[in-house]
Amino acid sequence: MTKAEQLQTVAILVPGDFNDHAVDRINRTFRRVRIERADPALVTDEMRSDVRGIASFAGINAAMMDALPNLELIASFGVGYDSVDVGHAAAKNIMVTNTPDVLTEEVADTAIGLLINTIRDLPRAETWLRDGSWVRKGNYPLSRLTLRGRSVGIFGMGRIGQAIARRLEAFGLPVAYHNRRRVEGLSYHYHATLKGLAEAVDTLISVAPGGASTEKAVNAEILSALGANGVFVNIGRGSTVDEAALAAALANGTIAAAGLDVFADEPNVPKALLDAPNASLLPHVGSASDHTRRAMADLCVDNLVSWFTERRPLTPVPETAHVKARN
Ligand code: NAP
Ligand code: 8YV
Repeated sequence: MTKAEQLQTVAILVPGDFNDHAVDRINRTFRRVRIERADPALVTDEMRSDVRGIASFAGINAAMMDALPNLELIASFGVGYDSVDVGHAAAKNIMVTNTPDVLTEEVADTAIGLLINTIRDLPRAETWLRDGSWVRKGNYPLSRLTLRGRSVGIFGMGRIGQAIARRLEAFGLPVAYHNRRRVEGLSYHYHATLKGLAEAVDTLISVAPGGASTEKAVNAEILSALGANGVFVNIGRGSTVDEAALAAALANGTIAAAGLDVFADEPNVPKALLDAPNASLLPHVGSASDHTRRAMADLCVDNLVSWFTERRPLTPVPETAHVKARN
């Protein structure tokens, strides 16, 4: 058998609806096995014996891994992998890969768009034009907020955080940040705590990953530290925010406005946020262009190809970087 023929015998499980370009490449390279969703109750005996890889948008939990004893690699579609139980994967010698870098600039562009929408109220201004209000009522009211004179704090100064910061520099705005560790070689002011950062700025952009260490990190105390002129933008993960505290802060003037691309229980958005006139909301579209999703799809599938030909991943997540191929 040639290498290509060998690859076509490798069964890759693909839960639910997946990116078209990735599905097309998996079909041409491997044996794709479809499953309605990543649910161990749906795993058949054939899947149990055959599946060696998973390509997935969705989370993969410990029970799903345990249901597939020959699973070697989970190729996760996206840079954030908080929905994959990587601790369990590492313990079971299963490699996990993600799709870093190829989406960084797109997500940073979206973050800036969301920031400006939030501060200058542009989505509602467009609705004013489209619904005839401009003709019937005259000019759209002046925006209460401006980007001018703001200072921005970034929670999660990693790849995307730094791409956002580069754009903000071009806007003439001072930038500071909070990570657990200071980033070597970055001149932006570092704050050892999120509260310290929130006290020092009036605009907070969260691009921190989900997971236990950031769960509800943006809470009532942080929003209060941001202050009445404060603007909060979240392009990272919804789980990093106490959404009830955020809705209350928007309603009672603790902060001025929020722009959100991500939510704790997607696609469900709390009614209090939907109803907030000072919130600008997007349906998790940070990386959602054809161009970038295709690049993510390619990296996701390239990881599968590299693993099942060279026996090494291209972009392993740190928690499983030590995992070795079984033969
Ligand atoms: P990255 O390069 O790994 O950056 C993450 C940053 O967060 C790191 O600098 C890290 O620094 C910091 N961090 C992690 N845990 C922290 C904690 N507990 N407290 C404080 N800082 C913490 O990742 P990236 O490529 O920039 O992506 C970041 C996140 O963006 C992803 O994980 C994903 O959740 C989100 N994202 C969203 C979209 C969207 O469509 N909205 C698209 C892509 C990505 P330390 O390790 O030093 O703390
Ligand atoms: C995608 C993302 O929407 O990369 C991430 O972490 O949140 C987004 O780029 C998501 O991964 C698609 O499943």
